[in-house]
This record gives sequence, structure tokens and C-alpha cells, in this order.
Amino acid sequence: MSGPAMLAHLLLEKFSGGGLLRIAEPELVMGDEGRNEAFERMGREDGLLAFLHLYQSIQISSLVKPGEKVLDLGCGPASQLVQIARLNPEAHFLGLDASSEMLRRGGEAVKRSGVGNVDFIAGDMTRLDGLADASFDCVISTMSLHHLPDTEALFSTFRAVRRVLKPGGGVYLIDFGRLKRAATQRFFAEDRILEQPESFTIDYFNSLRAAFSVEELCRAILPLGEGIGKRQTALAPFMVVFRNAARREPDPSARSAAGKIYANLNRIQQKDFRLYARWLKAGGLDLPFQPFPVRSFRR
Ligand SMILES: C[S@@+](CC[C@H](N)C(=O)[O-])C[C@H]1O[C@@H](n2cnc3c(N)ncnc32)[C@H](O)[C@@H]1O
Repeated sequence: MSGPAMLAHLLLEKFSGGGLLRIAEPELVMGDEGRNEAFERMGREDGLLAFLHLYQSIQISSLVKPGEKVLDLGCGPASQLVQIARLNPEAHFLGLDASSEMLRRGGEAVKRSGVGNVDFIAGDMTRLDGLADASFDCVISTMSLHHLPDTEALFSTFRAVRRVLKPGGGVYLIDFGRLKRAATQRFFAEDRILEQPESFTIDYFNSLRAAFSVEELCRAILPLGEGIGKRQTALAPFMVVFRNAARREPDPSARSAAGKIYANLNRIQQKDFRLYARWLKAGGLDLPFQPFPVRSFRR
């Protein structure tokens, strides 16, 4: 993510009228091996999305308590899920996806990482068939909702989430929000064009075009009741987050694991992490802790 050009796009987003119609993803359930491979590579700990995964893992760690059961909707290749599971070794995670190809990748990611607290299930997030009522302490979803075909599917998903979530359970849902300008969508998709496979650039652009509007997301989340706040990146809803307040104090071992992951990011990824965290903070969402030492200027 690069500074001045990005700011220019965000200001244009903020002050331009009108908007874009949603264009659903050409491939809702991600079954294409080549594209999935590219997506998975970007999500590894040395990939372009590593900063985003670390950010998400830290946020989600403030919701999940030891011993709890967590459902991840649209877990994909599980690079993100495995990292969350590593930071929360005493919780148990179930990754759900409608793509058998993604579930195969998820299984391999779990084997490679050696985590023992992740299982998978094939399923449709709009129904959650086979999952019992009030059987999960937390439901999470990262970057998957825009893969739904339409708002009806979005509404069904949240009704299904309400059914399987225990009362008072934790929720963390993050996805792109619909931007107003195609030029901004293209800017984000192409920002790192030289460092990403072409198929990833195309997928990224398609994802931004398939994003639901903030209003659609807010309406769909209503069945989950009060207590779930909406936050978004400042100036434009590039990312929209729905979550409840922290359910636990930051765990020292999660802090230390997150610190190590951050230390292993390259300088560009670390810069992206800090920029992204500041951007969401400006939109009202603070991190429960920073994965790097923070100097205090107070005396
Ligand atoms: C962009 S990937 C996100 C993967 C992962 N959550 C992450 O953050 O890297 C979206 C995933 O949602 C899955 N998906 C799409 N529609 C679905 C549905 N109705 N039910 C379950 N999974 C679905 C796709 O197959 C894909 O694996």
C-alpha cells in the first residue's frame, strides 16, 4: 500500500457522489487449482497478504477464550486460520468451505504447520447444515462474504450464524466494502502488480467489484443483535469489520507469538501492517496490542 496516491484515491472516494453496482464474483466457490495456488501463496507468512493475516489474527485473539469452539466461514486455504489457531492453541477451530480444492489445501496447511486444533468441514455458509444450534462460542470470517452471490445469500448467512452461535458469543467478520469508483478499485488491485501473479491481480479486482455495500452488510448483520460494532477504514470502506468488544485480556503467549511473526515480516510487510493498523484505527478500530515494542513519550 503506497501513501500519497492512496490518499488521493481515498479523498476522491470520500467526496465523489454516486456509486457502483455490485458485480458478483465470476467464481463464487473457489475451485480453480491455479488461481487457488496463487491466492494461497500470497497468504503465506512471506506473502503479500501476510500483514493482513497478522492484523486479523491479533484482533481475533481478543475474542477467543481457551477451551472455546470457533467456526471460520469460507476458510479457503486456511493460511489465515492456521495462524489464528497457532496464537490460540487452547481453542478449537472448525474451518468451513464449499470448495473441496480449498479444503484439501487447508488440510495440507495444517499438516505443514503442525497445529493440532483445526478441523475442516465441507459446507455452505448460507445454510450451515449439519452444525447444531448454539454450538459455537465464536464465529469468524475473513474476506469471504463477497463470494456470496447476492444479498439474499448474505442475509441467509447471518441467520445461519445466529442459529449456530451461542448467546453472547464472539463475532469477527471482515470483508471489503463497496467503493464508489472503479479507478479506486483498480488502484488497490494493481498497487503491487509487479510483485503478484496476474491471476491474483484479476481476483483482487473481481473481489472489490463483488463487495457488498456497507448498508447491505449492516442490514444483514441485524439478526445478530446489538453489541456488534461496525468499523471501517477511514475515508472509504475499503475494509469493513463487524465485531464485538474484546472478550479477554491479551494473552502473553499470543503477544509473543504475534511479535515473532511480525519480526519475520520483511520491511515492506511491516510497513503495510503499521499503515493498515493506523488506517483502521483512524476509522475507530484499535488493535488490542501491537506486535512490536511501542515507545512511550509520556514522562
Ligand atoms: C477469498 S477466500 C477467503 C479465504 C480465507 N478466509 C482467507 O482469509 O484467506 C473465500 C472462500 O470462501 C469460499 N466460499 C464461497 N462461497 C461459499 C459458501 N457459500 N459457503 C462456504 N464457503 C464459500 C470460497 O470457496 C473461498 O475458499
